[in-house]
Amino acid sequence: MSTQNIKISATAAANTTTTSATTPLTVGIDRISFATPHYYLNLEELAEHRGIDPNKFTIGIGQSEQSVPPNHQDIVTLAAQAAFPLLPYIDSNRLKMLIVGTESGVDASKSSALYVQNLLKLTPWVRSIEVKEACYGGTAALMMACDYVRAHAEKNPQVLVIAADIARYGLATPGEVTQGAGAVAMLVSANPHVLKINDDSVVKSADIQDFWRPVYQDTALARGKFSTEQYIQFFCEVWQKYCAQNDCNFSDFAGLCFHLPYTKMGLKALKAAMDSCANSCSDSCDNSNLSESSRNRLLSRYETSTKYSRRVGNIYTGSLYLGLLSLLELDEFTCENSDLTALKSGDKIGLFSYGSGAVGEFFSGTIAPGFRDALFAREHADMLDSRVHLSVADYEEMFESVAPYAPEDFESSTSCREGASFFLDDITSQERHYSAR
Ligand code: CAA
Repeated sequence: MSTQNIKISATAAANTTTTSATTPLTVGIDRISFATPHYYLNLEELAEHRGIDPNKFTIGIGQSEQSVPPNHQDIVTLAAQAAFPLLPYIDSNRLKMLIVGTESGVDASKSSALYVQNLLKLTPWVRSIEVKEACYGGTAALMMACDYVRAHAEKNPQVLVIAADIARYGLATPGEVTQGAGAVAMLVSANPHVLKINDDSVVKSADIQDFWRPVYQDTALARGKFSTEQYIQFFCEVWQKYCAQNDCNFSDFAGLCFHLPYTKMGLKALKAAMDSCANSCSDSCDNSNLSESSRNRLLSRYETSTKYSRRVGNIYTGSLYLGLLSLLELDEFTCENSDLTALKSGDKIGLFSYGSGAVGEFFSGTIAPGFRDALFAREHADMLDSRVHLSVADYEEMFESVAPYAPEDFESSTSCREGASFFLDDITSQERHYSAR
């Protein structure tokens, strides 16, 4: 949808800057917040326990810690937890959609958004739905939200997008080191305070079998090597097309964020694209003059974007947005020790979303004025720093105590409830019951 010119009336709800008739409508992320379980596993300890060189996990894969959910947390409670800090910014009269992107949903029919809507006591006059396409679901939801806000600009609507997932591969599997749990909530509106989402994306879809999860099990199946190859190939293809379509190259970006199944993954894709561009760029992608300073800037900012994921693990649909948060919230501190100037209003960030199966999309966002004041950086740092360390034995016990994927009654543990405000209490006669603190 092309950029529109609108006039938001003087009666528009608080929180929005009144726009003149000639100001182009900007749409994007007004507020963004994340939640992760209060418990974590140290991956060097896991490596030692599994008889693996810890460097494989910390250097080869690029993960240091992994959030572990107690059995009272599922994607519904994590989604509610992530969105909770956004409640003061939600105007019930303007909220028109609640979209949860997830690939670890709790019901094959009912939308998890309905449980979240109830837990957060949101207005019933809202469209509450769930979208699925592996790790791409959060981006699908964000794009739908932006399109909705653009299409109904005269009503100045808000859309709440939540990307929530628990990544489970199984104990002692190759994917175990890339597990994780968490949710990212984004409030989407006109005149966003954090990131304007530009209408410039390039998306590719293809039916491939790199990673999937049949409905009868809660652990994912992956062709690990194949999935990493596909990720890289999708990135290189959408990046080249994006550059050709938008007449730009690496030097136009202050930073690039990637879907992060593990932190080494995006780096492999970025380096592959940089190297192929440096060596063989065609006229459709003028990156052949990738400068040393652009290369260093993008690699340095990539590193900053991975800091949260390195501690949380893969949160599937939310991973790209956890990377964005990491970059926006930590960049200033990283820049203090480097030649880089801290990110500022107007800087362009590139975002690559990949969902196995597979869909890959590259799009850009422009940083909003005063974005730092709209972030929850302190709260996120506290949440990560206050997590409780689990021994490998405790992690394994927690992992196996999860609500069963079977028609059995289940009662969640009443211990390990600190750090959480929303709980799955029980499943009785195949109905889930939730509560809030
Ligand atoms: N010191 C340092 N590095 C070491 C090392 C050591 N002692 N031992 C091994 N390494 C390196 C290897 O060289 C390798 O590096 P490169 O990839 O750069 O060559 C890296 O550690 C991993 O080693 P392996 O390839 O041998 O690891 P593995 O066979 O155990 O599998 C994995 C790794 C494929 C990522 C596996 O964890 C997995 O299947 N994960 C789930 C699937 C996944 O995350 N796919 C990502 C793309 S799909 C996607 O993005 C969607 C999604 O979210 C799932």
